[in-house]
Amino acid sequence: MSIKLQDVNYIYGIGTGQEIHALKNINLEINNGEFIGLAGHTGSGKSTLVQLLNGLMRASSGVIYYNGQNIYDKLYNMHSLRSKVGLVFQYPEHQLFETTVINDVQFGPKNLGLPQLEMELRSFQALKMVGIGDELLDVSPFTLSGGQKRRVAIAGILAMQPEVLVLDEPVAGLDPAGRDEILGLLKKLHSENNITIILVSHSMDDIAKYVNRMLVMNKGEIVLDGNPAKVFQFEKELERIGLGIPQAVKVCHQLREAGAYITGEPITAEDCAEAIYQWLKV
Ligand SMILES: Nc1ncnc2c1ncn2[C@@H]1O[C@H](COP(=O)(O)OP(=O)(O)OP(=O)(O)O)[C@@H](O)[C@H]1O
Ligand SMILES: [Mg+2]
Repeated sequence: MSIKLQDVNYIYGIGTGQEIHALKNINLEINNGEFIGLAGHTGSGKSTLVQLLNGLMRASSGVIYYNGQNIYDKLYNMHSLRSKVGLVFQYPEHQLFETTVINDVQFGPKNLGLPQLEMELRSFQALKMVGIGDELLDVSPFTLSGGQKRRVAIAGILAMQPEVLVLDEPVAGLDPAGRDEILGLLKKLHSENNITIILVSHSMDDIAKYVNRMLVMNKGEIVLDGNPAKVFQFEKELERIGLGIPQAVKVCHQLREAGAYITGEPITAEDCAEAIYQWLKV
C-alpha cells in the first residue's frame, strides 16, 4: 500500500466569490505500515485532507496516487478505493442507525456486495478486533457507552478490511478512560494487524506516544513532518501556530536549556521522568 499526493490543492466554494483555499500544494507520501498523527489547529485543513484520501472529495488540482495508480484516471475504480481506505469520521457514533450492533457493523460490507456468509464473518471478526463481546451483538448501539459506540463505528469500517484506516479526531469528546480505550485499540490494530493508520488530532499529547510519524498542518500546508521527537524540537514554531507540545517534553526542554544533562529526546511523561532520574543519578 502506498499513497502519494502530488501538488494537491483544495478550494471550497469555487466560483462563489467566497473561496477558501483549504489545501495548498500538498506533497506527501504515506507508506505501508506507518502510524501517522496528523495534527493542526482548527481550520488547518486536516479533515479536508483525509476526505481526499478515499476519493470522497476530489482535489481542485493535483494528483493522488494509490499504489502508483492515479485515482482520478477515468478508468480508476473509485468504489474499491473507498473500501481500501477506511475513513472513520469525527463523532462516528452519530452515524450509527441500525437497531442492533451487528446490523450496524454489517452495513459497510453489505454495500460492498459480499456474500452473506463472508459479510457475517468479517463483521464478527471486526467486532472481536475492537473488543466488543458477543453479548452486545444484538443490543441497540444507542445503549452503549461513548467509547463502545465509537468502537462499534470503527468495527463497521474494519469489516470492509481496509488497507489504511483513517480516523478523524477519534477521541474527541471522550473522557480519559474512553480516550485510552480507543488509542490503545488503534495501537493494537497497528502492531498486530499491521494496518496503516492515519490519526487526526489537534492534541499533540494524545498522539505523541502512539504514532511513529507526525504531520503538522497550518493554514492548508504541511509545515512539519517527522517522528514525534524531531517535531517537538520545533517548540516555538508549534506554539506560534497554536499547538502546544506535551507538558512533559516541555519540562525536559526547559531543564536542558537551564543546563541539565538530559539525554535523548523524551516523548512521553515516563520517558521524561526516566531522563530526569538518569540526570539526577550521575
Ligand atoms: N464545507 C465547507 N465549505 C466551506 N469551507 C469549508 C468547508 N469545510 C471546511 N471549510 C474550510 O476549510 C478550511 C479547512 O477546514 P477543515 O475542516 O479541513 O479543517 P480542520 O483542520 O479539520 O479543522 P478542525 O480541527 O476544526 O476539524 C477551514 O477554513 C474551513 O473553514
Ligand atoms: Mg476537522
